[in-house]
Amino acid sequence: MENEVRVGLIGLGVIGGQVAKVLQEKAGELSLQAGISIKLHKIKVLTSDLEKPLVKQFPPDLFTTNDEDFFNDESIRIVIELIGGERPAYDYISAALKAGKHVVTANKEVIAKHGLELRSLAHEHGASLYYEASVGGGIPIIAPLEKDLRANYIKSIHAIINGTTNYILTRMSKDGIDFDRALANAKQLGYAEANPKNDIEGIDAAYKIAIMATLAFQTEVRPDGVYHEGISKLDSRDFRYAGELGYEIKLLAIAKQYDNTVEARVHPAFIRRDSVLAGINGVFNAVSIEGDLVGQVVFIGQGAGPLATSSAVISDVLRCSRDYVLGTNTSAIKISTSKTVQPITNVNTRYYMRLSILDSTGVLAAIARVLGAHKISIASVIQKETDTLSQTAEIVIMTHPATGRAIDAAIKELSMLDLVKEINNVIRVEEQ
Ligand code: HSE
Repeated sequence: MENEVRVGLIGLGVIGGQVAKVLQEKAGELSLQAGISIKLHKIKVLTSDLEKPLVKQFPPDLFTTNDEDFFNDESIRIVIELIGGERPAYDYISAALKAGKHVVTANKEVIAKHGLELRSLAHEHGASLYYEASVGGGIPIIAPLEKDLRANYIKSIHAIINGTTNYILTRMSKDGIDFDRALANAKQLGYAEANPKNDIEGIDAAYKIAIMATLAFQTEVRPDGVYHEGISKLDSRDFRYAGELGYEIKLLAIAKQYDNTVEARVHPAFIRRDSVLAGINGVFNAVSIEGDLVGQVVFIGQGAGPLATSSAVISDVLRCSRDYVLGTNTSAIKISTSKTVQPITNVNTRYYMRLSILDSTGVLAAIARVLGAHKISIASVIQKETDTLSQTAEIVIMTHPATGRAIDAAIKELSMLDLVKEINNVIRVEEQ
């Protein structure tokens, strides 16, 4: 065996640049830990990356813009993919694994959509595939699910796994500002992307919970099977009423395991103010896992950002280097069950509903009749605001558990009543 392991990096964006810096600056101590010299050998970049000031910190011959130059270099034993997005990242990772190279990636989309196939490919070619940075940035969550918690039957995962939306919701809750302003602030601070659709609509969180649920429940949970609902419909009134009722509103990613089925969903949820997740503010992420032996364990930390993410990426590089030294690979797939993902219409939760209604006699009775007809039991009703001029009132209804199907049908029926002026919001309540 050679006395060094050569690393090839794809991508010199915010994360790629930071990883390159750490690999260079900590080369000595990382090599000592790995038991072999870890050498950043080549960085595949876009031509435009070559203009970046960071490039000057490295020898010019480290960079290549040419795919063949990078992929035909047989001396590269570890490939780090940090370009994000499905393609061409998926092709790059596949090509590297087929060539028997170990791969480290932060790519949640590729792992959520193609993780099983890629891990199979890695196994077939004697390579390792690590993706700790794909979920929760610097928070160690993949390795615990793969190893440290394996003795458990994992019952559920509740996670705040998107920093951009958690920042926005924190501002709406604590400062009473509306969604558009909170989003604009998130953009100014560089948290939200120029096009934050994946964050706001819960798609980013759906990728992450699909990855975690697949590992936790050892069954394939595909991202397109994860129900997702975003945060843009939330109003400052919902936060005010949530507070009055003893709740916070968070964008939760939830996965639960039953005998033959699993649940996987992302949506805004009322959670009790005294719960651990309710106290996770700003761009912080948290993942709470319930196992039959360990009980509840909670991982909290920075879910994004170059430094935190580089912590996970570089640690994976160390694991690959150990695998290289020992001639092992750890990408064996252990999908031992085949459970179906329940449609959201089957999921049973409590609900918060905010409605504008005509402020006159018999209205509440009519609403109660519709809910009762769909077997939805009311836990409480509070009349919040009354507008005497338009003779409308705003009411908040908290229900007992009901299925998504029953709620959808009831809402459809309620919206057809003349006395219901508007269904302002319907939000699930999640007891953890
Ligand atoms: N866009 C993600 C977030 C960070 O806001 O949490 C990377 O996963």
